[in-house]
Amino acid sequence: MPVEWSGSGPQLLMELDRSAPLRAQVEEQLRTAIQTGRLVAGERMPSTRALATYLRLSRGVIQECYAQLQAEGYLTSRAGSATRVATTISIDRPTPAPLLAAEAPPLLADFPSGVPDLGLAPRADWAWAVREVCRTAADAEFDYGDAQGAPRLREVLTGYLRRVRAVDTCAANVVVCGGFQQGLGLVLRVLGGPVAVEDPGSVGNVTRAAGGATVPVPVDEQGIDVGALAASGARVVVVTPAHQWPTGVVLAPARRHALVAWARECDGYIVEDDYDAEFRYDREPVGSLQGLAPDRVIGLGTVSKSLAPALRLGWAVLPSALATAVVAAKAVADRGTPQLDQLALVTLFESGRYDRHLRRMRTEYAARRDVLVSALTRLAPSVRVTGLAAGFHAIAHLPAGVAEADVIAAARERRVGLYGMSTYRSTHDPSPAQLVLGFGNTSQHEIRTGIGLVADLLSRR
Ligand SMILES: Cc1ncc(COP(=O)(O)O)c(C=O)c1O
Repeated sequence: MPVEWSGSGPQLLMELDRSAPLRAQVEEQLRTAIQTGRLVAGERMPSTRALATYLRLSRGVIQECYAQLQAEGYLTSRAGSATRVATTISIDRPTPAPLLAAEAPPLLADFPSGVPDLGLAPRADWAWAVREVCRTAADAEFDYGDAQGAPRLREVLTGYLRRVRAVDTCAANVVVCGGFQQGLGLVLRVLGGPVAVEDPGSVGNVTRAAGGATVPVPVDEQGIDVGALAASGARVVVVTPAHQWPTGVVLAPARRHALVAWARECDGYIVEDDYDAEFRYDREPVGSLQGLAPDRVIGLGTVSKSLAPALRLGWAVLPSALATAVVAAKAVADRGTPQLDQLALVTLFESGRYDRHLRRMRTEYAARRDVLVSALTRLAPSVRVTGLAAGFHAIAHLPAGVAEADVIAAARERRVGLYGMSTYRSTHDPSPAQLVLGFGNTSQHEIRTGIGLVADLLSRR
């Protein structure tokens, strides 16, 4: 499909040899551009006046070229409208794969996890913050900036994390990154392998970030099995202590201490993924692990759950011993996270709009959680639900005899999107059969509709 440029399209690169006949060169280059697909069927050509000005030629030369290519069938033109590349022209080149997959029928309810409500993303607040930054930023702030992150944002994050997560750090040990995933990649590059990962957990993401194999370590109702971790031989582990991804269990106090003791003993490091700590409902707050052992824990945070994944903003809180190396890796990776976005985030924090948005979303997610639990309790009472004290997903434990894959496939036929725990297990074991039910981007109405449509599939036969 041609791009429909609004206004006049972008310029068209043509290199001309001014010592040779120019009309023939323009004609030939346009013909080749069409034959090779640089100019695609239906695409609007520059006006003869614009192309003539751009190429520093007379308009008559361009008009003659267009007339010739029209006669050859490469271009079409209708009175009063722009000249376009002919749609009838046949070009001998492979058809590129379509960028967008063929559309499946829309789901009536979808329960993906890890996605906040995209419809409630703070558009107005973000637009206001960006406008404020553009209005007030000094000229120098349009330069590259500090690869470690804007000093003001690092100060604000330090203060914020100290208050709400009991993080123990200073701005010199904070690196602003492009979301959690970039922070993880930078840290693992500096630490090297082998890397242990919770199982079930973000096995795929961590493996990609580690650039090699990871060692899966089982998670039980108390969190990661520290004995198994010690036996694994890894000296780096990635964990989600406040709300284990995806089981939702909280790392038990004894395990927190055992984990830190493990790191001290083997001179290892714990990477703490604090991905959805902002959303806690009816349980006591769980402070960050980083606050317990700032010399052994790397704290990674993100705004992907609190604001929107599209912003690609996150941070790494580092032990002093690692800060310089991670900053160097960040500088090599991209010279720093976009400066204006960082300043916009500062503006959101300082204005109180960040907290106001969180309060609003907490109330909304808590209401959805209640709707989900009551729908399941009423319509599928044999399903046990856990992992609900924080975040915006729950684990539905399917009764004996109900297979995860069957439920997911049958639900899809009823246009309900369900997702299984097996995806997050290193072995993809379908047992025990569990669903990870996200409700971050699923409205209360969708939750009621969706559970209503699949309740019989979830229930004991
Ligand atoms: C476990 C976990 N941590 C963190 C994130 C956030 O990653 P990022 O900040 O790169 O968007 C995700 C994203 O879905 C996640 O699943």
